[in-house]
Amino acid sequence: MRSQAGMKERRARNMEPAGIWENTDDEAAGSIAKRRNDEAKTMRAVVTGGAGFLGSHLCDYLLDHGWEVLSIDNLVTGTQANVRHLAEHPRFRMLQQDVTKFIDVPGPVDYVLHFASPASPVDYLKLPIQTLKVGSLGTLNTLGLALAKKAKYFLASTSECYGDPLVSPQPETYWGNVNPIGPRGVYDEAKRFAEAMVMAYHRAHGVDTHIVRIFNTYGPRMRLNDGRALPNFVHQALMGQPITVYGSGKQTRSFCYVSDLIEGIYRLMLSEEHEPTNIGNPQEITILEFAERVRALLGATTPIVFEPLPQDDPKQRCPDISKARRLLGWEPKVNLEDGLRLTLESFKKQFAEAQAR
Ligand SMILES: NC(=O)c1ccc[n+]([C@@H]2O[C@H](COP(=O)([O-])OP(=O)(O)OC[C@H]3O[C@@H](n4cnc5c(N)ncnc54)[C@H](O)[C@@H]3O)[C@@H](O)[C@H]2O)c1
Repeated sequence: MRSQAGMKERRARNMEPAGIWENTDDEAAGSIAKRRNDEAKTMRAVVTGGAGFLGSHLCDYLLDHGWEVLSIDNLVTGTQANVRHLAEHPRFRMLQQDVTKFIDVPGPVDYVLHFASPASPVDYLKLPIQTLKVGSLGTLNTLGLALAKKAKYFLASTSECYGDPLVSPQPETYWGNVNPIGPRGVYDEAKRFAEAMVMAYHRAHGVDTHIVRIFNTYGPRMRLNDGRALPNFVHQALMGQPITVYGSGKQTRSFCYVSDLIEGIYRLMLSEEHEPTNIGNPQEITILEFAERVRALLGATTPIVFEPLPQDDPKQRCPDISKARRLLGWEPKVNLEDGLRLTLESFKKQFAEAQAR
């Protein structure tokens, strides 16, 4: 058992804040482990990046399916608000820690899911070194944890592995067109390195690994200021500002609603597939059309303005999901209209709360 003084000291070093984070000491982890033994069927997952947009939805999903979840997050781009609703959940714990540092989790672990990483261009351009570190050292540390615990492993990779693709839609067999030394290279190459490391642990150590290449996903809990297209458009429209579209707006994206993505991830987690699998919505739309849809749904009257395209911005982004369909029997169900309505509601609430502060 660890002393109160020790706990205070760790909090002073900002490793263990109060509240929801309180139950993160060895004692609590030990009791989780004991409960797990008592309830032999409860699976225990470690989710890195659990206070982020996707990580928090994944925690919700796993908890709803009877799992026990320990989330590890340093809150660099995530927020406690994303998991506040889980504060009293008996099978949920949160640990504030940087996964680029050594990770030790007392007790058994069945699954390690590595979702920690800055993910929006604004974030990773502001945090280039942290992004490279979490993709490399963070992946190494989480793989080490999986190996030590004989746990399965899951990597959240990205469609950015394809770079500015010369093939569309992008199948998993496409090796990509990435500029490794451009500003976006910090994210793209970190994820490509992470994939290589995961495959090496699978081949060399026999770790049961899985890799998802996530295409643009949207939904409640995205940050209004995270710089991605949808929150940007919404924020500008709600502020009564012109909506900024980069380039001519003819570049395409495909947007997957978060519940569809998480369902695909869960199926992939339970599958026997070790090589990367695309999960995304193949409904392709130009960025200009997307901005117009958002503007119409919000009833905004502000104009759309055009600004220069950022360096290495992909011109096309559309997943080939034949493999996910065949292997997982998965395909997205939520259409853009419905997904946008659900998301815009949550953005409006977030905006009103921010204005009231
Ligand atoms: N959202 C998307 O459309 C999308 C697309 C492709 C891939 N992904 C991948 O999915 C994952 C989650 O993305 P998201 O959109 O939820 O981003 P997010 O920024 O909302 O969440 C990432 C979380 O990771 C945490 N984190 C970052 N570095 C950390 C570190 N060193 N130690 C501990 N925690 C750390 C952040 O605090 C945050 O809570 C990322 O790995 C991202 O690359 C997301």
